[in-house]
Parts: sequence; structure tokens; C-alpha cells
Amino acid sequence: MNETKLKQLLDEMSLEEKIMQLVQLPGWAYEEGAAVTGLADDAKNENMKRLAGSTLGIYGADKVKKIQDEYMKNHPHHIPLLFMLDVIHGHKTVFPCPLGQGATFDTEVARKGASIQAKEAAADGVQVTFSPMGDLVRDARWGRVVESTGEDPYLNGLMVSAMVKGYQGEDVSDPDHLASCVKHFAAYGGAVAGRDYNNVEVSEHTLREQYLPAYAEGIKAGAKLVMTSFNTLNGIPSSGNTYLMRDILRKEMQFDGVLISDWGAIAEMESWGFAEDLKDAADLAMKAGVDIDMCTEAYSGNLGKLIEEGKLSVDGLNEAVLRVLKLKNDLGLFEDPYHGASDEKFKKVVLSNESREIARDAVRKSLVLLENKKNALPLSGKRIAFIGPYANEKNLHSTWAISCDPEDAVTIADAAKECYGDSDVVFRTAQGCNMLKNGTDLGMGVYEVKKEKKENEKLLDEAIDLAEWADEIVLCLGEHIGQSGESTSRAMIDLPKPQMKLFKEMADMGKKIITLVFCGRPLDLKKIPEKSDALLICFRPGTEGGHGIMDVLSGKYSPQGKLPMSFPWCVGQEPLNYNAYNTGRPKPQQRPTIFTTRYLDCPNEARYPFGYGLTYSDFEVSKVELDKKVLGKDDKITASVTVKNTGDSVATETIQLYIRDMAGSRVRPVKELRGFKKVSLSAGETEKVSFDITEDMLCFYTINNCWDSEDGKFTVYIGTDSATLNGAEFELKKQ
Ligand code: NOJ
Repeated sequence: MNETKLKQLLDEMSLEEKIMQLVQLPGWAYEEGAAVTGLADDAKNENMKRLAGSTLGIYGADKVKKIQDEYMKNHPHHIPLLFMLDVIHGHKTVFPCPLGQGATFDTEVARKGASIQAKEAAADGVQVTFSPMGDLVRDARWGRVVESTGEDPYLNGLMVSAMVKGYQGEDVSDPDHLASCVKHFAAYGGAVAGRDYNNVEVSEHTLREQYLPAYAEGIKAGAKLVMTSFNTLNGIPSSGNTYLMRDILRKEMQFDGVLISDWGAIAEMESWGFAEDLKDAADLAMKAGVDIDMCTEAYSGNLGKLIEEGKLSVDGLNEAVLRVLKLKNDLGLFEDPYHGASDEKFKKVVLSNESREIARDAVRKSLVLLENKKNALPLSGKRIAFIGPYANEKNLHSTWAISCDPEDAVTIADAAKECYGDSDVVFRTAQGCNMLKNGTDLGMGVYEVKKEKKENEKLLDEAIDLAEWADEIVLCLGEHIGQSGESTSRAMIDLPKPQMKLFKEMADMGKKIITLVFCGRPLDLKKIPEKSDALLICFRPGTEGGHGIMDVLSGKYSPQGKLPMSFPWCVGQEPLNYNAYNTGRPKPQQRPTIFTTRYLDCPNEARYPFGYGLTYSDFEVSKVELDKKVLGKDDKITASVTVKNTGDSVATETIQLYIRDMAGSRVRPVKELRGFKKVSLSAGETEKVSFDITEDMLCFYTINNCWDSEDGKFTVYIGTDSATLNGAEFELKKQ
């Protein structure tokens, strides 16, 4: 439909029809036999169902078609209903969680993964995904770090952009693609004390330098929607924050797509104490330019009244409605209201071998090797014991892969069987302990785990017997699936007690121990690193988890993942990020002294820093060489190193470029990631790796409250993680 026709349609719509385009109903309202939406009385509900512009949570091609047919038949202008869903890291084929994808430092992993998710979900009736999440995360206590690609704005920006491109393709009307929604605008990851839904206090320059860039990259990549966040930002809830939404999002970032609230976020402005009542909340949200009200009665019950009272203009309403209609039009729904969904197509594309292979490759690339003493990995034993609650676990996804079937997942035990089937290696498995402590209640119903204490003791005895038999033990430990995700903040970020007990018992046996940790966040690993011969972080790897992990454990592939978030020594260090300030009293490298910035009982630095991760080989990076020492305005400096594989196997290393602005009109971080390149080298091989440095890479939010660079000294660092001190200095002289 062309723009003129779309406007014509808008003109023909009644006021009620228009308002209802801005209302999103929960999917259960459309379930067969559902009499009520849960929002209001029956008659009102039937009318809402007839007119609401969009819904979320429904999938299944036949089901969607049926609902769409019925809806369009009853809608006065036969405008199609829009179907949205959280397809975050997989619809049926589940990829590593976004944090795991961040660890790949590979935008192709993110792009390809998103395009497969889009293909499966679109065939199954989904039209919009609430992904990617562009929230920068620094506090491991926050449960939603699992949904982010990490603590670095540059890496997040690249990954978010790649995901948007993967979901949307060249054109969202293509039935293999979905419209993508960048969320949660803005700075949701900065929740005070890592407690979900909490206030966020960040200065203007930190907001702009750290928190906003990833959303901006998603918008530049063409994301069709943006979602507001639950938090207040410096005292103002996002869904009513006119400065954030109108000035920054619409004007500065030039976002002209649909702005949708998070679930209930408009109504929650009342609980925050920002809106007096629901009508006030609706008024504030419309003023801020929020187009769709997700699952409250704020808009449906009040926009009419606001127009009557002259608080909302018809033009203002039309503007929002047109954006929703335009999205439907961009998706081609006026021509094909199912967006190509069909059961036949779904069966053809779902969980295809090709998708599984791409997911498996993503898993291999996402695994981060933190320890490998005396080359404990790859596995070399003849009798291998896989012990722990993750040895046979199918829940390898996160709570944000809501539409997947865990039965499709490949466990470690499944993959070990394939791997060792025809060889002389024998492997056995034992659960070792329950995932969580007796009676732990995660308050999530389905994820609740209640087991008898006796059972834990029995499981431990079995594990000890098995460990005695084995010559290598692979301990498969981790957070329970319900311990990360929305509303899962943790004040203690360690592994559950029964698992720590199992670890201690196993470590005391003096055998070779390889520890795998499945997690949705950085953890306080306690004694695990010291007492393990090797330690591999697996995040939440998804459907092909077992395969990808066995590919690496067995040595078919070298690990190459790099931490996208710093791992702390203890929870007291949180929030923790590498790109912090030096302070006026930096702690001396050699020996901490009084009156310097320090903890008495813990290092300042991360236990494992951002960007860290080992391979099965060793790499040497030469001193940084610059082709010149002074950078002009439209100029470039080339910084180079020679990378040598000094180990004895082929491996891929990620060479990282960091820059420090030595003095600025506002203090600048000790280091900021500005580039990275992967090099794959055989034993003994060398390669020159170069990065061009240009003036735009040195810009920040200056004292003049604008994005600019400042003349002066800079240090460029090139190394294999963010702790590198391999640096060289140069100067920026714009004139
Ligand atoms: C709440 C979550 O914060 C958001 O990320 C999600 O997309 C919506 N619910 C819809 O499920």
C-alpha cells in the first residue's frame, strides 16, 4: 500500500479504531475460548479484542492464521492484527544467549543466528521480535545481563547492529524476516545495586558515552521498533521521559519507527509516583511519544478522554497511529496478513541441519577458557566421568528462549556418546547433586526445584564411586536456568551450595578436574579456578550446547571466546567494568599503599578481565608500532603488531585495540575498546595485524556537551585482553 492510501485509511478510521491501534493485548486474550483478557469486563474485552492493533506471545502458523482471519473479518477496516514475540536467542533452534554471543566477538555469529531465528519464527506466525537488547551491563547481580552482549559499548553496538540486520534482512516484507525491536530504552542495565526494575542514576556524559551507543547502532541498522525501559532515568520513568524519547531518540537519533512501552510500563508510572493515575500516565506517555501501550488499559481507557479535554490533539494521535499502520505496511501485512507463515514452511525450516550446524559453530566460538593448567584440555583420558547436574541437562537455553522445546537440545552426555562411540574411550555420567539447595523457591513456578536431602547424599556417593573409576573428571556445574533472566537479581553470585559441595569433594580426590560452568552472568567462582585443572565458561549455550562443548573438549576445535563482562573476585566489587577511571590516587602496580584507591580485602581489578580468554595454543604479540606519532583532522595513524602462534596447535586469537585519552575536559576511561580482529594461525605462524586510528575514534561527550575530540596525548594498546599494557603514544593535533 502506498503512503497516500495509508493516510486515506487513517482518515477513514473512527477515533476508537485509531486509539485501539495503539493498544497491545496479551496473547491469552486471543486463545480459543478465552472469555476475558484479564484487563476488564467481558463486553469491553470483546470490543478490545476486535480492535486492538497488536498482540504478543502467540505463535504457531495455523493458530495465527485462524486468529488473523477472525480478527480481520470483524475489524471495521479489516486492518490486520500484528503478532509480536520475544525471540531473543532462538525460536526453536536456540543459539547461545546474547552474553555468550558477545563472547564470540564475532558479528557474523550474531547476524546469522538472528536470521535463522527470524526464518523459524516468521514461518511460525511471528512478525515482530522484541530483540535485540542493547542494554550495557556492568553489574553481575542484575539477572538480565544474560540478555546483553556485555559491558562494552563498542562491542555491544556491533552486535546489536548485526542482530537487527539478521532479523530484518534487506526488507522486512520478506516473509523470511521479522521486524526488530531494540530495547530497553534507556540504560535499563544501570539498575541501582543490580536490582531489577530499579532506578538508574547516570550522568549525561556516561549515558551518552556508555549507555546510548548500542541502541543508536541498532537504530542506524534500521530497527523498526524501540521499546521503553522499566526504570527511571535520573528520576524520570522512561515511558514518560520526553527528553529521552522526543529529544534524544526521535530528534538526535532520528528514529521514526514505532516506540512501544515495555509490559505495563505506562501504568507503572503511577507506582513510581510519577503519574497521579492511569489517565495521567497515558497523557505523559503520549507526550513522550510512546506509540503502543503494552498490556495496560492506560491508552484504551483514557486517550479518548484526553482528546475530549484537549490534552491530546488528534494530530498527536494520528502521528502515533500512522507509525503503527506504516509498520504493518512495511511488513506487507495488507497484502499478506500472515507474513508468509504456514505450517508446511515451518516444518521445512525448523531445526534444519544447517541451522543446527550454525548454532553449533556459535557455541564453539562462545566458550571462554579461563584456566588450562599444563594443557589439561583437550581431554586425553581413556576413562572420562562427566559429573554434575549439567551432564545430562536439557535446559541449556535461558528463560528468554520461551518458544523452544528443551527436548530438542543436545546434552553433554548425548554429544559425548557421538564423540566417543567408536573409540576406545569410555565415558560415564553421574548427576552428583541437585541443581539447587533443598526447597529453593525461585518464585517462578515451572523452574521451582524441590528435592529430598537424602537424594543429594545418594547422588554424591554415586559421583565419588564414578570419580574413583575415572582418570579425568569433567564437572558440569552451573546456575539453574531460573537464576538468570528477568527479575532474577542475586546478591550472592556464586554457584548453588550443593554444587560447591560436590566440587569440593571432587577436587579433594586429587584427580584431573575440568570444570564447566553454565551461567547467565559473571560469577564469584570461589576456589574453582585454583582447584580445577581447566575451567571453561559455557554461558547458556542453547540447543547445540552439548555438541559445541564436546567439539572443544575433545580438541577438534580450539576455544576462542573472550569475556564480554569482567568476572569479579567477589560480589563486593560489582558493578565492575574495565573502562573505569584512573582516580586521582591509583593503586600502585606493585604494592597497595594506604590512601590509594583500594579494597583492603580484594584486588581492584577483575579476577578475569573483559576480553580475556585462552586458546589451546599460545600467542605472542609484538610491541605496538605506529607509522607516525601525530594525527591530524582527516588523517589516520596505523598501529601494528606482529602476532605469533608460539604454541603447538592451530588456534584463533582475538587481537584487541584499546585507546586511552590521557587528559580531557572530562576525565577519560583508562582504556576503551576501539577495534578487534581475529587471527587464525598454525603453530609457529606469524601475522601482522594493523588497525587504522582516525579522529572520530577519539571523540567523547566533552565539557561543551557535544560529541567531539580534543587535541592532546593518547595511548594505544594492542593485546589479547583489556588488561594489556602493550602500548604506544601518539598525539592528536587537529590543526
Ligand atoms: C518484559 C520484558 O522486560 C521485555 O524485555 C519483553 O520484551 C516484554 N516483557 C514482552 O515480553
